[in-house]
Amino acid sequence: MYFLGIDTSTTSSKALLIDEQGEVVATAASPHTLQTPHPLWSEQSPAEWWQAVASSILQVLQLAGVKGSEVGAVGLTGQMHGLVILDGEGKVLRPAILWNDQRTQAQCDEIHRRMGRERFIQITGNVALTGFTAPKLLWVAQNEPEVYRKIRHVLLPKDYIRYCLTNAYAMDKADGAGTVLFDLKARDWSPEVMAALEIDAAWMPHTYEGPQITGTVTAEAAALTGLKAGTPVVAGGGDQAAQAVGVGAVEPGIIGLTVGTSGVVFATTPAPLIEPQGRLHAFCHAVPGMWHFMGVMLSAAGSLQWYRDTLAPGVSFDELLKPAEAISAGSEGLFFLPYLSGERTPYPDPLARGAFVGLTLRHTQAHMTRAVLEGVAFGLKDCFELIRNAGLGKITQVRASGGGTKGALWRQILADVLESELVTVNTAEGAAFGAALLAGVGLGVWKDVPTACKKSVRITGTTLPQPQNYAVYRQAYAVYHDLYPALQPLFKKMTLE
Ligand code: XUL
Repeated sequence: MYFLGIDTSTTSSKALLIDEQGEVVATAASPHTLQTPHPLWSEQSPAEWWQAVASSILQVLQLAGVKGSEVGAVGLTGQMHGLVILDGEGKVLRPAILWNDQRTQAQCDEIHRRMGRERFIQITGNVALTGFTAPKLLWVAQNEPEVYRKIRHVLLPKDYIRYCLTNAYAMDKADGAGTVLFDLKARDWSPEVMAALEIDAAWMPHTYEGPQITGTVTAEAAALTGLKAGTPVVAGGGDQAAQAVGVGAVEPGIIGLTVGTSGVVFATTPAPLIEPQGRLHAFCHAVPGMWHFMGVMLSAAGSLQWYRDTLAPGVSFDELLKPAEAISAGSEGLFFLPYLSGERTPYPDPLARGAFVGLTLRHTQAHMTRAVLEGVAFGLKDCFELIRNAGLGKITQVRASGGGTKGALWRQILADVLESELVTVNTAEGAAFGAALLAGVGLGVWKDVPTACKKSVRITGTTLPQPQNYAVYRQAYAVYHDLYPALQPLFKKMTLE
């Protein structure tokens, strides 16, 4: 028997098959386009996701030579927070408003005004941020009232795929918490938040724990995907929770560090802990009965991608990074601020901007490359320090994953800046792998999520920090830390109306 994980990310929809030993058998991905019709907007077409998912499932089954009837269950994951709204017939009412859309600062402020910021944090565990779902609903109410009137169902990206696969309106609790319409302790919708935001509770789907079965594949979806009608589909989890399952960050003490387009520091918590000022996200985990803290940088490997595409187009990452190895730690006083798409942790500021600061005639492109890697590492340290100080107890291990941790240079810089040993694991396939494990747990192949992780996730490498670099990085981090507050008033002025 096989298990299928599906990840509807921002860039593509990926399908990944594992066997009963938790080994990856095959993967396939189909790309998505992204629309930015106005500054700060970021949208995608749910219909395009579904086409991409169907084609990836067909491809992965073909590649693996696996029949639909051999797939025991499907697990779903995907980009979090994206608002998908449907009418009473299940028709999509407008393009999805994504996690990296920054249009809703006024609505975030209004949510805090309506509920009181402290009360909102107390219930949801979070402040309202532009990326989250609740302010997007308010934005639609205020800016597209004719669309708002037709809403009957609110879903997140992976749950739209669930709807296409099974005809069921359902959501997992990890992603549910990321709407900030959730009562974090109760692991379900908050009547108080819904009432304050005048959101009809009937629009919200039933929520399930990650491995629970939420429905089965319909005959229509079976015909499009090659799956067998009746195949169970489990709840799964938002991409960060599923990614954590995929690397085995499912118990307190094991930190997940992901350097993908965005950068994430993830810590499992055994109770619904809250960072009092809401600087860390606090959501439900895809592990039943667990929660997690998370710090999110919006442009981590995304910063390096932008830098390469803009300043060294056509150059491979290996060629670009090689000369940066010879530059000394601290890039001779050159700093890069990675706020290319605004920021979330620790500065929830959609208007924050990227910058190179401290250029001199001595600086070469290799310095600039290294400064990008170091700037992202400093941003992740901001998240790491918040988690270190959140009263979670001892950090026993940091598990690094994501494209940005594939290269030895960036891994070393991260270990040195964080002053922590990093380990890499065999399961580099990310969230789709975690979703497939959740499907296996749902079908009873593994008794619970930690067991599934123990059976399939192995440590493959260790990067030790180099204490001789601590002093220079501590000094540089102190400067980095002062740069955002110094520049913040100017960022605001740079955003022309
Ligand atoms: C998490 C978040 C991002 C998206 C990216 O809070 O917004 O990680 O889920 O896919």
